[in-house]
Amino acid sequence: MDITVIGTGYVGLNAGAGLASKGHNVTCVDIDEEKVEKINDGECPIFEEGLPEMLEEMVSEGKLEATTDTVSAVASADVVFLAVGTPMDDEGNINLEYIRQAAEDVSEGMSERDGYQVIAVKSTVVPGTTEEEVLPILERSGKEAGEDFGVCMNPEFLREGTALKDFLNPDRIVIGELDEKSGDKLEKIYSEFEAPVVRTGLKEAELIKYGSNSLLATKISFINEIGNLCKQLGIDVYDVADGVGMDSRLERSFLNSGIGFGGSCFPKDVRALIRFMEEEGEDPKILRNVVELNQGQKVKLVEQLEQKLEDLDGKTVAVLGLSFKPGTDDIRQSPAIDIISELKEKDVNVKAYDPEAMENMEQRHPDTVYTESYQEALEGSDAALLVTDWPEFDEISRKDLKTMENPLILEGRRMDYDLPDDKTEGVTWP
Ligand code: UDX
Repeated sequence: MDITVIGTGYVGLNAGAGLASKGHNVTCVDIDEEKVEKINDGECPIFEEGLPEMLEEMVSEGKLEATTDTVSAVASADVVFLAVGTPMDDEGNINLEYIRQAAEDVSEGMSERDGYQVIAVKSTVVPGTTEEEVLPILERSGKEAGEDFGVCMNPEFLREGTALKDFLNPDRIVIGELDEKSGDKLEKIYSEFEAPVVRTGLKEAELIKYGSNSLLATKISFINEIGNLCKQLGIDVYDVADGVGMDSRLERSFLNSGIGFGGSCFPKDVRALIRFMEEEGEDPKILRNVVELNQGQKVKLVEQLEQKLEDLDGKTVAVLGLSFKPGTDDIRQSPAIDIISELKEKDVNVKAYDPEAMENMEQRHPDTVYTESYQEALEGSDAALLVTDWPEFDEISRKDLKTMENPLILEGRRMDYDLPDDKTEGVTWP
């Protein structure tokens, strides 16, 4: 099928490359000319494992191309995905500016199309957005939804770092549909995928995405609350999580305690659902606490550091890991941002290292020292804070500890290295 994807962020680009690899002809649309040029040259504009190779292959095979011309890309498509960002405003609401603009551009292209096509929202949007915001804009094309074109809401559950793999091997494909004809057409796109398909209404699909992300975030905050108790008791939260997770009704995944969740989705989506529920007259008691606990959890390592070193003024501390999780250069809502701010407020000299995210963090914290390696960050430091569980940090050795002024690693994430117990301490484990 001919597919057009509007927006070449994580979701759009991975979906575009993934669908092209399944035999579809994909056109990716973005307003950023530089990005479009890069894609057409077979270059990948984002850091994501496996994507550069797949993109290059699809472009060279002529299965994928990029353009800034929305109108002609839409006019030639059987299915159009809206995959633009829905960032958070200061109050936690989602900002619909980009999706409205994209829908307007799409409606222009739709007026040039003869015959039926389906427009599917892939961006994360609160219940009602597809039907009440996007659909009326699409009808400015002069066409009637359900008659001349179909409308679907098809949320995406891919994770950064494993995005392409997740897109190609989803646990389920959720198709929210305006009517059966819309859903039937969209489902055909996924005929080569081996995943159960959930056919449902538009609002249900929108809420499935928020429900999934909010429950995953709740699991993390829950295990961190238990972890904070474990810390008081001097016991290991990972032993507790393993035991709890063996109950098939509960599942072990997303019970890894640490310094909380970051990233472009969980913090934004939980807050957006809270705001939406408040607007609907509901009282989101659980979710408010999920966010509050996470906020406190992010800077727990600094509290622990103060207990260990007493006076932090003038001390040198290595911050190991800056991205919100390994496998990405993304620092959005990363605990490292708040940790560095807190350390600076306490007049600590920060030496930061990350294998991929230093450039991004430099824009956020320009007056921090960034080192070439974790060894360099550790050398001469009074302590190290382990913030992101990059596999290379498993290599930290006793020899590395000896280069520190005071050999001490406070762990915000669980690592698998072989270091003496009295030189390391976890945020929620001994
Ligand atoms: C998440 C969802 O998993 C994905 O389905 C959705 O489409 C987008 O949001 P992502 O943000 O890429 O994906 O990363 P994820 O691997 O889910 O981790 C999010 C955050 O939670 C990270 O900061 C991670 O370190 C933290 N986390 C995750 C924990 O603290 N403990 C866990 O057990 C799991």
